Amino acid sequence: MDRLIIRGGRRLEGTVQVRGAKNAALPQIAASLLGAAPITLNNLPDVADVGTMLTLIGQYGVQVDRSGPSSVTLNAANASNAEAAYDVVRRMRATLLVLGPLVARFGAARVSMPGGCAIGARPVDLHLKALTALGATVDLEAGYITAKASQGLRGGRILFPSPSVGATETAMMAAVLARGESEIVNAAREPEVRDLAQCLIALGARIEGAGTHQIRIQGVSQLQGGRQDILPDRVEAGTYAVAAAITGGQLELTGTRLEHLAAVGEALERAGVRLWPTDRGLMVSRPGPLRSIDIVTEPYPGFSTDLQAQFMALMTIAPDESTIRETVFENRFMHVPELARLGANISLQGTSALVRGVSALKGAPVMATDLRASVSLVLAGLVAEGETVVNRVYHLDRGYEALDRKLIRCGADIRRAAG
Ligand code: UD1
Repeated sequence: MDRLIIRGGRRLEGTVQVRGAKNAALPQIAASLLGAAPITLNNLPDVADVGTMLTLIGQYGVQVDRSGPSSVTLNAANASNAEAAYDVVRRMRATLLVLGPLVARFGAARVSMPGGCAIGARPVDLHLKALTALGATVDLEAGYITAKASQGLRGGRILFPSPSVGATETAMMAAVLARGESEIVNAAREPEVRDLAQCLIALGARIEGAGTHQIRIQGVSQLQGGRQDILPDRVEAGTYAVAAAITGGQLELTGTRLEHLAAVGEALERAGVRLWPTDRGLMVSRPGPLRSIDIVTEPYPGFSTDLQAQFMALMTIAPDESTIRETVFENRFMHVPELARLGANISLQGTSALVRGVSALKGAPVMATDLRASVSLVLAGLVAEGETVVNRVYHLDRGYEALDRKLIRCGADIRRAAG
């Protein structure tokens, strides 16, 4: 298992290309199962999770043609609802996203309960609720989810008690082929949901309201082929924005825009970071001292839970106290004890973390626990005195394309070592 060895203390300056969003790519790859005509996805990030999803749909008989690292054509003409190997499904939770398309197209699916980052209970009830509302019979048995709709799905009203990104995507993908009209109430409003809707619309689906709380879908009998450019990754952009901020540096993030960062951009500005648009994207700079600020993670358009760990790393070296409250996942503080090993002063109380800024972090060996926690340790390592060794970086490779290489190009001192 690779590890990263970081010598902290270098100010970052340069340009970082922001790639397509992993969280937009995964459902769109799953959506290829819905139709029998080829779809092409461009601006695909070259990350391990995308590779896992492509392997998974390959097991259902989808023909996968990669015309380069960032483009893929998927042809599900000969796909079937065979069962996928548990070894693939256990690697990430998003494998669950094949469930909706399989039931919609084949009238039945059996999918293993997924694995993924250990950041809370992460139940699947809302995904199943969506399929039940569309007429499927769903059973959970011995680690498998079975869903059946032998007469095909029919339109229905899906009311989510709380918004879920994945369940909204499952609902949308299932409803596009259901007979009649469907309505998703209290839908997740994340840009990745809207991007999936745009992809499905390009394939002939009839969807209105994606990006709002209420999505309406008129079922169609089949989808055609098409192409889609995956939207830029707002989490990747936010992560590099924090990298500029934590090192007191300046990075131009190409391929993204300020509005993609939404609440995270505002939080960074409150913390003393400057952000402004350029011809190619977005400039992020911290010209002066940091300020400690409080944040609360929330569904979009609130502060993204996927940037909470990175922001906490930033606050560890801000001058005062910062309270960071996590409202999306109940157990997303695995990075706290690891940041503490680097000298951070953080106390946890339930779903809140109180971060008291320290004058300097000190390098130490740390363990990556999940995707975003791992990157927060890399960010902390960039400013820690001496050497920080981040072990188990396979978590990082799941969601960040060439993170170490991109940081090195901007002046970071990072070495990747095997074993
Ligand atoms: C997606 C993102 C992930 C991000 C999260 C929240 C992908 C591949 N992953 O994950 O990076 O952190 O959105 O923005 O897009 N819940 C239930 N029952 C369900 C489903 C979810 O109770 O059936 C709960 C979850 O435990 C969590 C909340 O709903 O507390 C939100 O989770 P959800 O939006 O579903 O996250 P994911 O789609 O798994």
